Amino acid sequence: MLVQEIIRRKRDGEILRDEDIAQIVRGLTSGAVTEGQAAAFAMAVFFRGMSTAECAALTTAMMHSGQVLDWSGLALDGPVLDKHSTGGVGDNVSLMLAPMLAACGAYVPMISGRGLGHTGGTLDKLESIAGYNAQPDAALFARTVREVGCAIIGQTADLAPADKRLYGIRDVTATVESIPLITASILSKKLAAGLQGLVMDVKTGSGAFMSTLEGARDLAESLAYVATAAGLPTVSLITDMNEPLASCAGNAIEVLHAIDHLTGRRVEPRAQEVTLSLGEDLLVLSSLFPDRASARAALEASLTSGAAAEHFARMVKSLGGPGDLLDRPHERLALVPGVPVFADRQGYVTSIDTRALGLAVVALGGGRSRPQDPVDHAVGLGALLPLGAPVNPATPLALVHARTTGQAEAAMRNVQAAYGIGGAPAPMSPVVHARVFLKRD
Ligand code: URA
Repeated sequence: MLVQEIIRRKRDGEILRDEDIAQIVRGLTSGAVTEGQAAAFAMAVFFRGMSTAECAALTTAMMHSGQVLDWSGLALDGPVLDKHSTGGVGDNVSLMLAPMLAACGAYVPMISGRGLGHTGGTLDKLESIAGYNAQPDAALFARTVREVGCAIIGQTADLAPADKRLYGIRDVTATVESIPLITASILSKKLAAGLQGLVMDVKTGSGAFMSTLEGARDLAESLAYVATAAGLPTVSLITDMNEPLASCAGNAIEVLHAIDHLTGRRVEPRAQEVTLSLGEDLLVLSSLFPDRASARAALEASLTSGAAAEHFARMVKSLGGPGDLLDRPHERLALVPGVPVFADRQGYVTSIDTRALGLAVVALGGGRSRPQDPVDHAVGLGALLPLGAPVNPATPLALVHARTTGQAEAAMRNVQAAYGIGGAPAPMSPVVHARVFLKRD
């Protein structure tokens, strides 16, 4: 069928056949589908949506547009698992969870992304570690997964190339915020990574792409249903992003926070709760543990015994980073000094514009305005006060780690504007809002 006929049918709200979707995806990969056609297709899906079956067909076609990793040759003695977040601020869960899962007997080949918009990216964070190779060749990636149990790396060019092209076109044609397109984009890459189980962390709140709980629930359901239909058991958790998850946002500063968490030097309850909740669901989903309580106990033990920290250190070393990162984190991770930004009145923190804090980090140089921009790993925000904290004009809301006085002053204004201060503390909301899970029969 002519590509324009397939687009017309979607434009008119018809359900596409699997072969129509496969033809679009083949054309995206080969170039036979032009940029204009891809944009029109994306816009038609944006307005008309897709059934679960259509979305599953798009997902599997994009998954097969490139290499599909196969871990069976490594004779691993545990399941191959991963976690993916829809993106947040101060969300460094991957850095803690991957080694914790590895310490519990799973294998975690985590293919992560760079910062997008106001959200931070795991790869940018890891690249604050001098020598860390986030683009290893296939042999080093496989060896690290087999010998350490986890390897966090960047997407390779031959993994789901149809998604890479379509995503680039969506990014510049206002078609990113489509639940079926987001679902197919994320899951095609996860399926191509050869996983046996996945937990999705779908963020909701002022720092999330899906700011409403309703939108987050729709996305969480779509991800869990389509992944399960495509043969990848998946559970989605909806977690809170009405404030940064960790008390910091940036690159080196979030790695330092993760090291403190892994070594027990400083454990923050919200980050801990999200990490344990995601981990326990994944360990139960993959049948490594019979129930959430025993999975949680194992994850907690991986922290207290030092096993998770040791897996993190070995992963960093295996991928080219320093062998003594955990012993000398402040020498190995460059962070420019922080200056305090104060509250402008007395009261309680009643709201946080988390997106604005993420954008403040981008303005400091810690994120990108354009994909090709470099990232400054040494800047960011630290000691961020949580919702509900009492403040007065002598209370620092945060520490601003900036390169220049001008950048520091701009960030201070942004932080002050992002914090809402009122007379009474706002009621606390849970950090895990809901769990979406489809049983396979
Ligand atoms: N992340 C992805 O990989 N794809 C999307 O469409 C949105 C977020």
